[in-house]
Amino acid sequence: MQTDSLRDLLLRMTEDLHTKDLRSQDKLIVVMGAKGGVGTTTVAVNLGVQLATFARKRTVLLDFARPLGNVHLLLDLHPKFGVRDAVEGLDRLDSHFLAGLLTKHKTKLELLGGTTQPEEWEKIDINLLDRVVNVAQNAFDVVLLDIGSQFSTAWGSILRSARMILIVAEANVPSLWTLERRLLALKGFGIPQDRARIIINRWHKGDDEVLKSVQKDINRPIFANLPNDFRKASQSVNLGTPLMENHNNTLSSRYRQIAGQLVGIDISVDEKKSPLSGLFSFPTKK
Ligand SMILES: Nc1ncnc2c1ncn2[C@@H]1O[C@H](COP(=O)(O)OP(=O)(O)OP(=O)(O)O)[C@@H](O)[C@H]1O
Ligand SMILES: [Mg+2]
Repeated sequence: MQTDSLRDLLLRMTEDLHTKDLRSQDKLIVVMGAKGGVGTTTVAVNLGVQLATFARKRTVLLDFARPLGNVHLLLDLHPKFGVRDAVEGLDRLDSHFLAGLLTKHKTKLELLGGTTQPEEWEKIDINLLDRVVNVAQNAFDVVLLDIGSQFSTAWGSILRSARMILIVAEANVPSLWTLERRLLALKGFGIPQDRARIIINRWHKGDDEVLKSVQKDINRPIFANLPNDFRKASQSVNLGTPLMENHNNTLSSRYRQIAGQLVGIDISVDEKKSPLSGLFSFPTKK
């Protein structure tokens, strides 16, 4: 019995060492909202699906949104386990244990479900989530995090370890104001500017003027924009079917294009409808 425990411990230590190596391979992409309700979860889910299908990457989406995680609803999944189980089993957590906590979507995207009761977060120490993220990086090509719009120093370590932080915002005053404050806060965390990428959700042509001046103010390009399509977006959310499955439309091809950019596959999409994307896109960090 003692030999077994010792062997398990050694195995986990070896995996930990391995994980540290892999960490530098930059697999983590954090998706956060400049504020609540801007479409962070929709973006995380649809990028996850495109990464798993079109880009053929082994992709896991960790639902760290607070107070409640609702990623499973958008994928019509019913996770048996979630983030709280991962944290509670931390002393046993390795890729095998994590695999048992995940729920697989038919697109092969895997999900670590979020909290289903708001008070669950009182029992979750954010500092321990770092380890969950590391174990996930050990087993997948891409680890996506939906952290909603939360922001605090406790997230600093995870944010600093991310290859990219996608900040979702809308082109209206409250959202752009919070976006600007958030970019400053990330800089304060010591995160290199080019790692924080701005995604404008629910974009329409009339937004271009204001977005041009925003880019000037913050001296940063907008990474991508996603067209406003309330009918298709809400249909997809309510049916629990990611966009690629129910329609072949501009929105889903934009998601495919962004997923391609994230993993270095170049695909051109009709840029006429979205002049900003052509003007201001810039290469991903390798
Ligand atoms: N491109 C889009 N066009 C139109 N509506 C959209 C688009 N993307 C998302 N939405 C809608 O925006 C609403 C909010 O989306 P979502 O739940 O993803 O936001 P969120 O930022 O994760 O919210 P929360 O802060 O509550 O976690 C949903 O009703 C969704 O259908
Ligand atoms: Mg959300």
